[in-house]
Amino acid sequence: MLWLLTLHIAALLIWSAGLIYLPLLIAGTRNDSLALGCAPANADSIARWLFTRVASPAAAVAIVAGSLVFLVNGTTDLWLMVKLTLVTLLVVAHAFSGLLVIRLEAGKSVVRASYVLLAGVLLLLAAVLWLVLAKPVWGWS
Ligand code: HEM
Repeated sequence: MLWLLTLHIAALLIWSAGLIYLPLLIAGTRNDSLALGCAPANADSIARWLFTRVASPAAAVAIVAGSLVFLVNGTTDLWLMVKLTLVTLLVVAHAFSGLLVIRLEAGKSVVRASYVLLAGVLLLLAAVLWLVLAKPVWGWS
């Protein structure tokens, strides 16, 4: 079980770093530097490469490993239910950063939306980490 939890935490750290770095990268990427040899051969931009090759696989591993820990542990405490609700919002934020990558490559304005996304991600990550480490006792717990 420990190796599952370790895999869960390792993957969520990479995912969280991706969720924080992508909006910053997208906001900081000037359109004229998009295609100048900085994008990998098989991706239109560094942002797309990081989104598809790092953040998304890490998200998948974090969610699968977390779900397996959930099944093995059988924890049904209210804090975990609230956590999983917030994690669903993190998945929406993840999808939104993918949308911003597409807008960036289309030369559309992304700076304000990137900073709004970053603020939302930081709030969600703080709330999820507080919940999993404090494990507050509420209601039916
Ligand atoms: C669908 C996604 C997820 C599921 C099903 C899930 C499930 C779980 C479960 C069952 C545990 C063990 C809790 C216990 O100690 O009883 C756990 C631990 C943990 N989870 Fe998740 N989790 C998910 C996503 C996340 C995300 C996105 C984060 C952070 C951004 C996160 C952070 C943590 C941390 C830090 C621990 C270790 C807590 C400790 O040391 O006691 N999890 N997760």
